[in-house]
Amino acid sequence: MSGLASNQSLTPLTYGLNAQGHACLGNLSLVDLALQYGTPLYVLCGNTIHAAAKAYTDTLTEYYPAPHHILYAGKANLSLGLCQKLSHWGIGVDVVSGGELTTALKAGMDAKALSLNGNNKSADELRQALHAGIGLISVDNEDELHLLAHVARETSQTARILLRVCPGIEAHTHDYIKTGQEDTKFGFGLHQLPTVMAAILGPLADVIELQGLHAHIGSQIFDLQPYQDLAKLMLTLYFNIRKHYGITLPDLNLGGGLGISYTHTDDPPAIATAVQAIAETLKGEADKLDYPLPRLLLEPGRSLVASAGITLYTVGSQKIIPPSPTFAGRHFVAVDGGMGDNIRPALYQAHYTAVVANKATQAATQTVTLVGKYCETGDKLIESLAVPPVEARDTVAVFGTGAYNDSMASTYNRMPRPACVWVENNSACLLTRRETVEDLLRRDQWFTQL
Ligand code: LLP
Repeated sequence: MSGLASNQSLTPLTYGLNAQGHACLGNLSLVDLALQYGTPLYVLCGNTIHAAAKAYTDTLTEYYPAPHHILYAGKANLSLGLCQKLSHWGIGVDVVSGGELTTALKAGMDAKALSLNGNNKSADELRQALHAGIGLISVDNEDELHLLAHVARETSQTARILLRVCPGIEAHTHDYIKTGQEDTKFGFGLHQLPTVMAAILGPLADVIELQGLHAHIGSQIFDLQPYQDLAKLMLTLYFNIRKHYGITLPDLNLGGGLGISYTHTDDPPAIATAVQAIAETLKGEADKLDYPLPRLLLEPGRSLVASAGITLYTVGSQKIIPPSPTFAGRHFVAVDGGMGDNIRPALYQAHYTAVVANKATQAATQTVTLVGKYCETGDKLIESLAVPPVEARDTVAVFGTGAYNDSMASTYNRMPRPACVWVENNSACLLTRRETVEDLLRRDQWFTQL
């Protein structure tokens, strides 16, 4: 199992083993973190997130000779502390709800470094964003454009917008997380652009300021070609917009979506490789078309935080079904979390890998199915996991859980959501406290009369 230590893309950067054979982040044993903070526990390695953020910004600085800005897709995992760190590192946040916007603003982030996305923003959310002085709003559809214009007029403000388009580019990923194709709820079809441009430049011109276009083609993408196709297509659109309307759009947002390694068989490109490919494609196209490079916005979520995350669980009961002539048998190992803290295996058939943190140097002798404690047959975390002999109270560490785990967590079965601990430079602190049953009960109301 110790082979995992060398795979930096699968585990956090500071992952390793200590003298006792325990899995660690730096010199902090995951077994000790589990004891100190309880389980299930999300752990985020700040050094890994910082390195990913730097890979984005450094590569853009090196290969993209025009302004650029990273807008972390907050839906991947958001908290006050994470926003504080990101803004300290020069990263903005793309938010998709009033809740995410409030979090970023409360964390002290500069509203200008934020953008608002989503396919059905409410009038209140638009109002909140305009009131805060948000940098950009990505408008998703015609109804929303008119609602935004209405809200902007009502509050005597100007809205700086991007138009989200669906570019018709197929990214090869799970159907539920593809967004670039024609048949999607997100964004304007390219055929709608003339009508929308006419509205923006005509009746809405007093309150709507078009800054550029936005496209996001999907998530967990390993292939660079769709990004290069997208970069070319968008720059051609910009060129045509200048030709037809005489406008040089200053901003271009190419979305997020870069994949990460969840298992040894995943082979995503490094952040630097992907960003360099996008930057060079844009430069090549801009040269060809003799068009000035716009400010480039990228919206990575998963690739900034997923590999930094580990979820720690404590082993409870086990069930062994012996093989029979019709069934290969199965060994279930149950932990104290599951689909409430990580819905991705049940929702997307996502694969994860894990180690027994207190036995990280012991040889794997058996294959087990790691399950949770929720009342669902589909509550499986890992279908087939090679482990040493496992006992109750062992600590299991599941890798790659920094994105779309905490942010998609539920309180199903009235199980409170885990705490999250931030580990950076060999020290740990609480980022999000553990939810309590009292927190859940606080929402419930009594009948005053029965
Ligand atoms: N920008 C927009 C407009 C998006 O919709 C998304 C993700 C991102 C950026 C960030 O994408 P990323 O870099 O994280 O791939 N819950 C799913 C992923 C849903 C992604 C939704 N949109 C999962 O757990 O795989």
